[in-house]
Amino acid sequence: MAAIHAAVFVTTRPWAAHEFESLLYNGAFAVGNADCFALVRVALDEVELLTIATHPTHQRQGLAHGIMTDWQSAARKRGATRAFLEVAADNLPAIALYHACEFKPNGLRPGYYQRDNGRKIDALMMARALT
Ligand SMILES: CC(C)(COP(=O)(O)OP(=O)(O)OC[C@H]1O[C@@H](n2cnc3c(N)ncnc32)[C@H](O)[C@@H]1OP(=O)(O)O)[C@@H](O)C(=O)NCCC(=O)NCCS
Repeated sequence: MAAIHAAVFVTTRPWAAHEFESLLYNGAFAVGNADCFALVRVALDEVELLTIATHPTHQRQGLAHGIMTDWQSAARKRGATRAFLEVAADNLPAIALYHACEFKPNGLRPGYYQRDNGRKIDALMMARALT
């Protein structure tokens, strides 16, 4: 997961292996394979998408769309009835993916993300029912 993150997040700080390890030890679970994965966390009846990434050499092949279906299905089995996520407002590929997976915008956190160059980017919040 850290290797894929390092390959895709070149202008923002990728998550290190120990950060993934800590999330996994604290209730998150991962879905995917060596080319594409999602890390999510279920709390009561809600599941949050923490991150999703496809290695650059495998993008636009439908992998993330398939993984989106897989983690929502796994979360449903664990009792989740609602899914939510946050995405940088300038991350157009991810926003297009989430729209394609029936997530709808439901809020904005102004200046939530800070780029390495200091520029602040809004976080778009999105959610969908899992019923
Ligand atoms: C966002 C990301 C996970 C998409 O992965 P992917 O495996 O290439 O996505 P898919 O091939 O399953 O695409 C599914 C749909 O998402 C949308 N989409 C994906 N990439 C897109 C792009 N670059 N531009 C526009 N739409 C895009 C399209 O609707 C696409 O369907 P289509 O190919 O039939 O048009 C990938 O671009 C990535 O790893 N980005 C960097 C990490 C990141 O930003 N993660 C999200 C925030 S944590």
